[in-house]
Amino acid sequence: MSQYRVMVVGMGKRGVHHATAFNANPRFEVAGICDIDQKRLDDAATKLGNPEKSLDAAALAKKHKPDLFCFCTLPNLRLDFIKLGIECSAKLIAFEKPVAMTSREGIQIKQALDKSGVKAVVSHQHRYGGHYKKVKEIVASGALGRIQTVYGTATGWAAHMLSHLIDYTCWFNNYEPAEWVMAQAAGRGKLADLHTSPDYVAGVVHYKNGVRGIYDCGAGAPDVPEVDSSKEPKLWWRKARMGAQGSEGFAEVITNGGWRAVTKRGGFQSGPGNMDYVEDMPPYVQEMADWLDDDKKVHPCAFANAYTGFEIMAALYRSAAEGGQVALPLTSGADEVALLKAKVPNRPVLVSFNQSKKEFGLA
Ligand SMILES: NC(=O)c1ccc[n+]([C@@H]2O[C@H](COP(=O)([O-])OP(=O)(O)OC[C@H]3O[C@@H](n4cnc5c(N)ncnc54)[C@H](O)[C@@H]3O)[C@@H](O)[C@H]2O)c1
Repeated sequence: MSQYRVMVVGMGKRGVHHATAFNANPRFEVAGICDIDQKRLDDAATKLGNPEKSLDAAALAKKHKPDLFCFCTLPNLRLDFIKLGIECSAKLIAFEKPVAMTSREGIQIKQALDKSGVKAVVSHQHRYGGHYKKVKEIVASGALGRIQTVYGTATGWAAHMLSHLIDYTCWFNNYEPAEWVMAQAAGRGKLADLHTSPDYVAGVVHYKNGVRGIYDCGAGAPDVPEVDSSKEPKLWWRKARMGAQGSEGFAEVITNGGWRAVTKRGGFQSGPGNMDYVEDMPPYVQEMADWLDDDKKVHPCAFANAYTGFEIMAALYRSAAEGGQVALPLTSGADEVALLKAKVPNRPVLVSFNQSKKEFGLA
């Protein structure tokens, strides 16, 4: 079996997670790493057995021509690195969610990938958690009867969390395309963050198969009391709930609170589970090797799946900024962040529980 040569750009939290998982998998060799921050680069290199380091992604990519080009930069950097991955003849590009910050950029990314034929994978890796897989298994088994609704809530703001909520609920709904969305947004605080989004977005999605998606993300989202963040405030980020309701029951996963279901035949069932990067990354990268080996083994986090969710997210933003329903698929690009900056009312967001006040700078 061949070994795939990998280059990873961005040695922050997620870049190190990726590089560590590649380094631990015998199907990959980390040929080079890059960051514009020398200290981060040096610290990461020590942990990764000292691959070649560079402050210049383009120079490193052109020198090594990696099979797999991975970048884990903040969401303001996407299209340029997609182009670089294509230019250096990578066979697969792996990058972080969200796909892009605007539909203009997302559409350009899709066009560039479609034209080049390069495979791409977007990191919605929470789905490898046993509790996420259990909910998918219950939905797919038919135990919930006819699925009517999928839903997702998270207290973290949309640029961080909405992409996850949409992707896993689209997975529950077999990545059925959406026909239209409608949304509202409130709070301007996080419009100034590099993870740029309104403090709060809530909206509905009409999927083609009639399933209704309901999404509630950010400051106004409800608490998820199953996740106790009183002693560990960082767990606030894990207050996310995603599920499906059908004619014969429901099943839901909580990012750090396990899973539970009630079904007509099985009664109440539940089980544990916490999102864990250490457990989620190895199968995520292994399935990249599988896809590189065999075109038929398409990665579950393939760009096509992520793009389904990305379009929904961009359309929710567009609806919040412009009003009314937005039809999908999007036929032209727009800068939804600029639209939101122009339109979200200049009033403090109303939060749903105390810890969110602090996270949104209102305490
Ligand atoms: N999938 C998940 O579960 C998950 C979790 C957290 C974050 N994320 C996403 O991962 C991405 C990165 O987040 P993070 O927390 O690792 O960020 P981070 O700030 O820790 O790391 C980003 C790194 O990129 C480097 N960088 C910036 N510009 C660069 C350039 N031109 N060339 C090389 N390096 C450059 C920065 O110096 C920094 O070290 C974001 O899009 C975020 O939304 C995903």
